[in-house]
Amino acid sequence: MSQRVHIAVLPGDGIGPEVVQSALRVMRVVGDRDGFEVETGEHAFGGAAIDLTGEPFPASTKEACLNADAILLGAIGGPKWDGLDASRRPETGLLALRKALGAFANLRPVTVPDALAHLSVLPPDWVAGTDLLVVRELTGGIYFGEPRELGADEAFDTMRYSRLEIERIARVAFEQARQRSRRVTSVDKANVLASSKLWRSTVTKLHRSEYSDIALDHLYVDNAAMQIVRDPQAFDVILTANLFGDILSDLASTLAGSLGVLPSSSLGGATPLFEPVHGSAPDIAGRDEANPVAAILSAAMLLEELGFGSSAQSMRRAVDHVLAAGSLTRDLAPHGVSTSTFTDAVCTALEEASASSTLS
Ligand code: IPM
Ligand code: MN
Repeated sequence: MSQRVHIAVLPGDGIGPEVVQSALRVMRVVGDRDGFEVETGEHAFGGAAIDLTGEPFPASTKEACLNADAILLGAIGGPKWDGLDASRRPETGLLALRKALGAFANLRPVTVPDALAHLSVLPPDWVAGTDLLVVRELTGGIYFGEPRELGADEAFDTMRYSRLEIERIARVAFEQARQRSRRVTSVDKANVLASSKLWRSTVTKLHRSEYSDIALDHLYVDNAAMQIVRDPQAFDVILTANLFGDILSDLASTLAGSLGVLPSSSLGGATPLFEPVHGSAPDIAGRDEANPVAAILSAAMLLEELGFGSSAQSMRRAVDHVLAAGSLTRDLAPHGVSTSTFTDAVCTALEEASASSTLS
């Protein structure tokens, strides 16, 4: 009997629609092979939704997201909407989506495929073998803290965390570490910020009471930025607050040579959400040039989360295979292949892999 996966698709802006289409194509190929059906509904989100309805996160999109098994999001934003006031910007829609779901745990794995190690700004043997996971708190901290105000001569934000918010994200990081190399680095600014002092003591207590099998250390965020570049292989799970995680995950992407290859999941809420870490890249939108790897790997994370672990694994293997064969998009190689050529190659690799496993 065939199973069904119901996905709310939010293509968004810029290259969002192109990379999401790639990911869905690959997912359908693997679904045909492994016996599940990918059912999708597309919903307006971000700048595209502003153009259509005046708001970045319309109520109908919210409802569809709450009713789906999972959400696959492309990217949002672009110069066209930069002039709008804060309440109506695409980014506000993304924050509202995360909050509406309650998706407090943002998982951003950074691995460096062998085929890409030479494309990093760092020496290949330095970055090869990097396998770290940023666990970023996503619905609290300075992104959401009140009070906040933008005045003509003064403006402020509030970085606020409760013990319970810290505990639940720390728990996610420790649980992830148990399935990996059992090391957590908690990143804060406890030498300056009150919210970081609570962060550090809460993580330390939870570790002592429930996760003493995990190696835990703490770094200040400035030092962490340096260490991630200096010795990326030293990291396993990086646990951190919303703002710090935003910054450190972009930094970590330089290890892999391009932001175009990093996927993410946002968990803990009503519906799990999956999206590339990269933005909408309006400069190359609609030109069949975007790197679909981050979107395809986000779709793999989606399948993994819904219990299709081996399908997810074969998607990742197919991507690695195509990269290793030297097929790279233009963010990685000056005369690289198009989005659709790359996607075709991944679909072919999946079909060939299944043909050879049937034979053997
Ligand atoms: C990200 C993005 C968002 C964030 C923006 C677009 C609001 O940079 O997902 O990393 O800051 O969280
Ligand atoms: Mn970011």
